[in-house]
Amino acid sequence: MRKKLIAANWKMYKTPGQARDFFRDFLPMVDGHDRDEIVVCPNYLAIDVAIQAAKGTKVAIGAQDLHWENEGAFTGEICTSMLVAVGVTDVIIGHSERRQYFGETDDTVNLKLKSALSAGLTPIVCVGEVLEEREAGLTEDVLRRQCLRAFNKVSAKKASKMVVAYEPVWAIGTGKTATPEMAAEAHEIIRAEAADSFGQPFADQMRILYGGSVKPENAHALMSEKEIDGALVGGASLDPTSFAAIVKY
Ligand code: PGA
Repeated sequence: MRKKLIAANWKMYKTPGQARDFFRDFLPMVDGHDRDEIVVCPNYLAIDVAIQAAKGTKVAIGAQDLHWENEGAFTGEICTSMLVAVGVTDVIIGHSERRQYFGETDDTVNLKLKSALSAGLTPIVCVGEVLEEREAGLTEDVLRRQCLRAFNKVSAKKASKMVVAYEPVWAIGTGKTATPEMAAEAHEIIRAEAADSFGQPFADQMRILYGGSVKPENAHALMSEKEIDGALVGGASLDPTSFAAIVKY
């Protein structure tokens, strides 16, 4: 049995004060919730407030990105040692918005994945097709290529904590959700690629999250699908009541 992971991706929302208010309201709503793992990924400036607020609870704090070098002249970047030093445990890698707007490639995803794993962080590697690719029947090719390149020269032993998030780009922030069946089909492709790269036992234990317009109204149906091991939630994670409802699906 793979324990589900419900992750919040806050993107470029919330000041530190707003993050503090979120946790004040959210934590009592999920107090004692043991069934799933919960991770919240705020922007870098709100990470410390989030970590202080979530101390002593089961809610973990993640980052939305990282740089793969250990330190250096990389203006504006953050590396793993900085994240680990403040208590971050998880990190999103290769989100489609980073790919689309900030030049993230399969190769930089691979570098970031290796760096996160070496630092003991749990990487949440995002993959997913755009609408034109789906319509052209290329979904499988795209998912296989993104995974294959992300996993390049990563060993099964090192990758044991890795989580993959399937996020069809056409479903992100659009209100359009993949049906549970569509998501399950994509997850099977990703799991097959993981089996090719790391072996079947590894693939069987690897968690694959679904992301793209997950809301309290559709969370139950999605999470009931046995191929779906959790959710990566953007918009609906900004409100404590709505994110708590998703966690409890
Ligand atoms: P959304 O975003 O839930 O707002 O669609 C998901 C994501 O980008 O991770």
